[in-house]
Amino acid sequence: MNPSSVYARRRALLAQKIGANGIAIIPTAPEQQRNRDSDFPYRADSYFYYLTGFSEPQAWLVVTGDGHSTLFCQPKDMEREIWDGYRLGSVAAPGQLALEAAYSVAELDAQLPAMIDGRDAVWYPFATHKGLETRIDNWLGGLRARVRYGTLCPKSQHDLCGVLDEMRLVKDTFEQATMLRAGQISAGAHIRAMQTSATMLRAGQEVREYHLEAELLHEFRRHGSQFPAYGSIVAAGANACVLHYRADRGLVRKGELVLIDAGCELDGYASDITRTFPADGVFTGPQRMLYELVLASQEAAIAATRAGARFTDPHDATVKVLAQGMLDIGLLDKNKVGSLDDAIENRAYFQFYMHRTGHWIGMDVHDCGDYTEPGEIGQVSTRKDALTGETIKNRPARILRSGMALTIEPGIYVRPADGVPEQFHNIGIRIEDDAIVTDSGCTLLTRDVPVDVAEIEALMRG
Ligand code: GLY
Ligand code: MN
Ligand code: MN
Repeated sequence: MNPSSVYARRRALLAQKIGANGIAIIPTAPEQQRNRDSDFPYRADSYFYYLTGFSEPQAWLVVTGDGHSTLFCQPKDMEREIWDGYRLGSVAAPGQLALEAAYSVAELDAQLPAMIDGRDAVWYPFATHKGLETRIDNWLGGLRARVRYGTLCPKSQHDLCGVLDEMRLVKDTFEQATMLRAGQISAGAHIRAMQTSATMLRAGQEVREYHLEAELLHEFRRHGSQFPAYGSIVAAGANACVLHYRADRGLVRKGELVLIDAGCELDGYASDITRTFPADGVFTGPQRMLYELVLASQEAAIAATRAGARFTDPHDATVKVLAQGMLDIGLLDKNKVGSLDDAIENRAYFQFYMHRTGHWIGMDVHDCGDYTEPGEIGQVSTRKDALTGETIKNRPARILRSGMALTIEPGIYVRPADGVPEQFHNIGIRIEDDAIVTDSGCTLLTRDVPVDVAEIEALMRG
C-alpha cells in the first residue's frame, strides 16, 4: 500500500485534465457471485484503485475539476462487520485516504444530482460498468426536470477511459516498485515449479500439471500476493501448443517440455512470466534447438525495446529472427516459402508463431493504453493480409516512452503436419518477461528466473 499522497497526486492530475468545471464519476467493481452464497474473491476496479488505493466493494469516487475528491463507501455497521469484516467508513475515510469528503454509499442518489448541478461536463468510464450509463442518465434526467427551478444540466459527457488510460500507461516509481516485487515473487514461483518437477521425477513420483500449479500458488501467496494475475497455464508436452491451455491434470513426462505461463498480482499489479523447461531438467537436442531460437528472438526484441522505438518494433525484430531460424532448421521449406523476406511478407512463420510479441502490463495483465500513437491517428494505410485476404487498417504504432511497461513473449508452437520434421512435433515453447521502458533500453522485472539453457539445467539439477 502506497502513502495516500500518491493517490491524491493522481486525483489532482485527473482534476486538471477534466477542466475546471468538470466532474468525474468512478465506481469500483461489483461483487461477483460464483454460485449460491459464495462470491468470487473481491477485486477492486483498476481505475478506482489507481485513484484511491481503497479496496472495499460498493464504493464510488467523485472528483471535481477544482481538485475536490469525495468518496462514497460502505457505512460502518457492526452487524455486517461481524459477518463480512472491517469497513473503513465515511468518518475515517477522508483522513486515511487524503480525500476532501466521504459519505455513505446509501447517499449516492441523493447527493450526486446536486454535485453535478452547474457542471458543464460529466466524465465517467464508458462501457466498463454495467448499468453505470443508466444511473448517470437518471441523475442527469432529474436535473433536467428541474431546469425551471434553476438547475443547470451538463452539456457534455466524456469517456474517462482515455484520460485514465494515458495516465496509467506510464508507470510512476511506486508502480514500478510494486511491479518489480510482483515479478520477483513470480520468478521465485517459476523456479520452485521447475525444481519440483525435476525432484519428483527423479524420485520416481507421478507428476501432473496441477502439482506444479500448486507450487506456483504456494509461492505467490506466501509472499503476500493476493491473487494470481490470470489463470495459470501449466502445459505439459503437446498441451503447450494450445495457447490458452490452463493448468489441468496432464501427466508431466521425462523427456518432454513443460510450458508455464503464470504470474502473481501484488497490491493491484500484475506480473506475467512464461518459462519452458525440460520436465526432468535436461533439454533434448531438438528441444534445445527450438528453445535457443526463441531465446535469440526474445533477445532481438529486448534490444529493440527503448524509448523512441515503436510498440511494434520488438515484434518485428522477433519475427525476423524466428522466420530466419525456421528456414535454417527446416521448419519452413525454403523451396516452398522462398527467402526470409518472402516468409515475412507471406506470413509463412504464422504456422508456428501466431501471436503478438507483447502487450502493455500494469494493473491489468493486458493493461490499458492505446497501441496507436495518438498524434498520428489520422495516418491510416491499408494492406491486404497475406493469409486471410482481409483488408487491415494500419495506423502508426505507439512510440515507447520511458516508464511504459510491456511484456516480451515470443514463442514457437509446432503441431504435427505434413512436411514438418518429426523431431519437432508437439514442441511448444514461449519465453516471456516483463519490461519497463527506459531512455536507453529497458529493464526486465522478471529475470530472477533464468532463461539460459545451462542456467535452467543447473537450477533443476538441485
Ligand atoms: N498470460 C497472458 C499473456 O501472456 O498474455
Ligand atoms: Mn503476456
Ligand atoms: Mn503470459
